[in-house]
Amino acid sequence: MTARGLATAGLAALGLLGGCAPRRTPAAAPLSPPALKDAFRNTFLVGAALNSRVFSGADTADARLVEQQFNSISPENVLKWESVHPRPGAYDFGPADRYVAFGEQHGMFVIGHTLVWHNQTPRWVFEDADGKPVSRDTLIARMRDHILTVVGRYRGRVRGWDVVNEALNDDGSMRRTPWDTIVGDDYVALAFRFAHEADPGAELYYNDYSVENAAKRQGVVALIRRLQAEGVPVTGVGIQGHYRLDWPSPEQLDTTIAAFAALGVKVMITELDVDVLPSAFRQTGADVALHAAARPELNPWPAALPDSMQQALARRYATLFGVFVEHAGEISRVTFWGVTDAGSWKNNWPVPGRTNYPLLFDRQGRPKPAFDAVLRVAPQRGGSSRRQGSHG
Ligand code: XIL
Repeated sequence: MTARGLATAGLAALGLLGGCAPRRTPAAAPLSPPALKDAFRNTFLVGAALNSRVFSGADTADARLVEQQFNSISPENVLKWESVHPRPGAYDFGPADRYVAFGEQHGMFVIGHTLVWHNQTPRWVFEDADGKPVSRDTLIARMRDHILTVVGRYRGRVRGWDVVNEALNDDGSMRRTPWDTIVGDDYVALAFRFAHEADPGAELYYNDYSVENAAKRQGVVALIRRLQAEGVPVTGVGIQGHYRLDWPSPEQLDTTIAAFAALGVKVMITELDVDVLPSAFRQTGADVALHAAARPELNPWPAALPDSMQQALARRYATLFGVFVEHAGEISRVTFWGVTDAGSWKNNWPVPGRTNYPLLFDRQGRPKPAFDAVLRVAPQRGGSSRRQGSHG
């Protein structure tokens, strides 16, 4: 710097250069990075799925992190049928009430997950006293009772519901679940109508995984079109977003978001995580009923993630958020399926007892390089909406 430059800088530091004096920041106080929810405040909501340790008060560190970083929450398990309605006529709302109260206390957009699914639903729902399949009318009545009771309890408080989860096969056809075989394909429409009856103000979503693959994506588009043609109140599509480093491609994701947005519904990423471990299966997806046996080669980093992988994960997250930001006007929310790597379901699915690294916060709750990479893509941080890098 020249002598004149130095003098100017000195004057500026003293605030003697008219209106353009810089704000003084004490050198000792490093600027803390902005929170995710603030960095994307004008772009989309940023959410996290919570397990009961967070809202029961058992895990105060995670609860603080959630308060700081997120403005939407999803319940990882406490609103699933087996949790909230374990026996005929017996509802257990304790944990779900605490979940909703936590969200309200912090002014968050509270999500309900999920009303009609084939997993984590007790067998009695589909059976009579002799263990035989119930009639269509009985199952519809049970579904209606469940939805009116659960959605009705949180009317006006749970703002959006995953009404139907995972109704489609990978080829886009209807999945032959007990819902489908006993009621018929119209169980999906019925579930949305009952949810709307219980809370006409709530957003109502169809939610699924692997929808980035063309056949399943087309199945979702056809399903939503059918529902819309019948006047069924579906307001959004949830892309679960259980990703890997090499799947889906940015193009697949881009095409999928555009295809759903073109239906005139809200689009959201509802269960984001990125699996960095060797794949146990060839197919993509998140079918919780699938399991693979533990083998040492499937768990290569039990102590720590190597730096090269940490960087690959950061690049991957930058790419994904680059696509999300490109679709800022179409995506209303991006929710992570968990808070820190320690609590992620990916440590136990599809292989039990692994050490996975799928989220933005490490096992101590510290932001990872992937967190910084995501912030760099945020419009409020000066990032452009151009797609960043390529997928790793
Ligand atoms: C998972 C939970 O994270 C686990 O704790 C539970 O054991 C199984 O379900 N798709 C969904 C979520 O819609 O409900 C699943 O959550 C993950 C896959």
